[in-house]
Amino acid sequence: MSLPAHVKIVEVGPRDGLQNEKQVVPTETKIALIERLADAGVPVIEATSFVSPKWVPQMGDNSAVLAGIRRRTGVTYTALTPNLQGFDGAVAARADEVAIFAAASEAFSKKNINCTIAESLKRFEPIVSAASALEIPVRGYVSCVVGCPYEGPVASEKTAEVARTLFEMGCYEVSLGDTIGVGNPSSVRRMIEACARHVPIARLAGHYHDTYGMAIANIYASLQTGMAVFDASVAGLGGCPYAQGASGNVATEDVVYLLDGLGIETGIDLAKLANVGAWISAALNRPNGAKSGRALCARSSS
Ligand code: HMG
Ligand code: MG
Repeated sequence: MSLPAHVKIVEVGPRDGLQNEKQVVPTETKIALIERLADAGVPVIEATSFVSPKWVPQMGDNSAVLAGIRRRTGVTYTALTPNLQGFDGAVAARADEVAIFAAASEAFSKKNINCTIAESLKRFEPIVSAASALEIPVRGYVSCVVGCPYEGPVASEKTAEVARTLFEMGCYEVSLGDTIGVGNPSSVRRMIEACARHVPIARLAGHYHDTYGMAIANIYASLQTGMAVFDASVAGLGGCPYAQGASGNVATEDVVYLLDGLGIETGIDLAKLANVGAWISAALNRPNGAKSGRALCARSSS
């Protein structure tokens, strides 16, 4: 199968990236990050989450973040919503799109959203109905698509079943999360093939954390299945608060470097994006997790 000509990048740094930061990240920094990402040409930005601030305090300024950004035409600003309370908050804050999030592992579902997989799917139904009435698109996530920090390997059929339920419920896209980055091109490919038996490949996205350094290889394997939507986090920011030891998503800079090299269009200006990665890493006083970002910045300053 030939590779897609265009890939949509969903930038999840402001949400998945920052949700796990131990230090309080000022709201102005989050707003500046989102605006700089939009300036670099990122088409979709997951700006925040409307989850319980007791569970994830870092996202407690969700409304202020969405209220504070200068919105750029053509950019979609999205937010995670685990329940109707979160959905109402996201709508009031004018999120363009919302995302519901389930898991393929029972133990992770319990730890992350305090309910079983079945309960979570039931809980999402009224969100999808309410969103449909307001014409707000809903994206679905499945976590632990190949492995779980508590249960170990996860069967592709289980992942496919959850992906199918989210799609049939009305999610226009289902993002497949390798939450702890244990997948490799073989297991990820098998998992995507299982999901694609129920959900069209054009409606599936890859969301790969880079814990074992496999994320870029997994994206290349995913491209070969026809997948053309990938989530990524600038400077490789992040990790999941309910998956100890999980590192950030694949760095957006590294994904764009790969796609540029393959002649696949993203609309993102890599040089600008590399500067955003360097800037946010300095602002958070953490090492820049994007290899290509570091290389590009070193080249331009020499
Ligand atoms: P719960 O404690 O079972 O909820 O949490 P509850 O309904 O019993 O409510 C308890 C309290 O929370 C109440 O307040 C509610 O008002 C409040 P109290 O009466 O005690 O003062 N509450 C809320 N407050 C604000 N916004 C809300 C909200 N809902 C309830 N939306 C709940 C259940 C789902 C709320 C909780 O478990 C939660 O917020 N979990 C979110 C965890 C999270 O954000 N995890 C990270 C994101 S997922 C991820 O990173 C994976 C992903 O990247 C893909 C991948 O990599 O795999 C997407
Ligand atoms: Mg994630």
